[in-house]
Amino acid sequence: MANQKGEKEKPVSTLLSKEPWRIAGMFNAIAHRYDQINHLLSMGLDRRWRRRSIQALELSGGAYVVDVCTGTADLAVTASRHVPSPGLVLGVDFSDGMLSFGQEKLRSAGLGSVVRLARGDACSLPCRSDWANAVTVGFGLRNVAETEQAVREMYRVLKPRGQLAILEFGEPRLPVLRTMYLWYFRRVLPWIGHRLSKHSEAYAYLPASVSAFLGQKALVELLEVCGFTDVRLVRLTFGVVCLYVARKPSKG
Ligand SMILES: C[S@@+](CC[C@H](N)C(=O)[O-])C[C@H]1O[C@@H](n2cnc3c(N)ncnc32)[C@H](O)[C@@H]1O
Repeated sequence: MANQKGEKEKPVSTLLSKEPWRIAGMFNAIAHRYDQINHLLSMGLDRRWRRRSIQALELSGGAYVVDVCTGTADLAVTASRHVPSPGLVLGVDFSDGMLSFGQEKLRSAGLGSVVRLARGDACSLPCRSDWANAVTVGFGLRNVAETEQAVREMYRVLKPRGQLAILEFGEPRLPVLRTMYLWYFRRVLPWIGHRLSKHSEAYAYLPASVSAFLGQKALVELLEVCGFTDVRLVRLTFGVVCLYVARKPSKG
């Protein structure tokens, strides 16, 4: 099927394919503009969302943090700045392009000794069990093909009493705001993203993948099924983004 400009539109099933090579390839292709487009499309709110997720963990000095799907390391950097004298923040991602922009960011911020980046898959984290005081994942879980496997991995690497923070997109509940937001998110954002990134799919994939991902209740249930306790959901910016915080119980 062709769109109004005569370009062939991808069928939704192809657009939503989460084959690792496809997802990594897509992020490799937009890595050079990823941060700029993020800040622009969220009107700078993405920085506040990341900060809120780290603050919610109330980590103390010397904490070890794993940032899964770290991308260009924005959340890892936020963790290193808001945890008092962090032990180590390890950012993991399978996109070399995103990681190399993250590495450059760490170098220019002088954070290379506090934040380390590693190439790896969310479903098989390069980390020993019971190592981290906190695991974070910002706007990444929805991209992972095996959501449950990734949640179980995050549980595995956490110390008993360690905490998990997940940031994901949601939808405002106020009817008028919701209508306006969905128009922006599904129509305007992909249009702007396409023009700025010059990538035909990445910013059409974003709203499509949010719609196809687990609902809030289902994600809370999944966290509980995987063993997490004290699961709470905090809606940020009228529900545009949801922050899920959960704890790995102490060893019984
Ligand atoms: C939308 S970006 C989020 C980046 C960053 N966390 C942020 O807050 O901006 C999603 C990232 O998840 C990574 N990713 C997706 N699936 C992954 C997987 N299975 N294992 C590792 N990284 C993955 C992608 O390569 C991409 O860098």
